[in-house]
Amino acid sequence: MRLAVTGKGGSGKTTIAATLARVFARRGRVTSALDNDPNPNLAAALGVSREDAARLRRVPREDLFEEHKDADGTVTLHLTRPFDEVVDEYGVRGPDDVAVLTLTGLLGAGRGCICGQHAAVRELLGELGNGQPNTTHILDMEASVEHLSRGTVRNVDALLVVVEPYYRSLVTAERIVPLARELGIARVMLVANKVRGDRDSAEIDDFSGRHGFEVLGRVPFDDHVVDADRRGRALIDHAPDSPAVLAIEQLADRITSEIGEAAAVGG
Ligand SMILES: Nc1ncnc2c1ncn2[C@@H]1O[C@H](COP(=O)(O)OP(=O)(O)OP(=O)(O)O)[C@@H](O)[C@H]1O
Ligand SMILES: [Mg+2]
Repeated sequence: MRLAVTGKGGSGKTTIAATLARVFARRGRVTSALDNDPNPNLAAALGVSREDAARLRRVPREDLFEEHKDADGTVTLHLTRPFDEVVDEYGVRGPDDVAVLTLTGLLGAGRGCICGQHAAVRELLGELGNGQPNTTHILDMEASVEHLSRGTVRNVDALLVVVEPYYRSLVTAERIVPLARELGIARVMLVANKVRGDRDSAEIDDFSGRHGFEVLGRVPFDDHVVDADRRGRALIDHAPDSPAVLAIEQLADRITSEIGEAAAVGG
């Protein structure tokens, strides 16, 4: 199963991606957390120590793929080696044995765009679709909507769009969902985050109802999340019984029941 987590800046993508990864790993799924934000902080949210996080190196495209040319000249890319070997060389194993990889990174000040990296992520996700069952790959996206225009997330089984219950966040979802559908992503679903009470919940219901968007889960506003972040700890370690963690566990249940079949088929 391949999931990407997207949404407006600061909506809670990294918190939700990291906590979902830990929950799936604890449930016995082979789990990887893939950081696709050139300003990466997924490792910290997962609870990877600073020393281990310092060992993360961006996976270079040329080291991931080799080109195969068909008789008719069509070029396709294939992984040069098993995914686990890529993790061993460039990534780290975090708490609960979540494999952590950094996929994108800036080339340096004034050094140009990273579109080649986006293409590599797209191809990698395509290849991971042929992987083992009982495996989850969770991709934490940067706040821009560029990964949709570039098709970076084309090969995921589901796209989770994290929204906060306020206008500018919801409008971002209005832009993301049609692009994601146009890419042909099988499941595109909202996750409401930082929900404070019934009024916020009604706001989300009203918005999703009007647009025909599916809401897969709701995570309450929770001071434990802020506290965990302040201390540089993973939420699930800092406050395992907090309302936010319980809501993300329920979200994991929904993901398993709603797109679990994709997991069985696509890995
Ligand atoms: N449910 C929640 N309750 C309270 N605070 C939250 C909640 N979810 C996230 N936050 C806080 O919101 C801030 C942004 O969270 P996070 O970094 O996960 O968002 P993001 O969407 O990944 O941000 P970016 O766009 O910068 O990548 C953090 O300070 C985090 O602690
Ligand atoms: Mg983030």
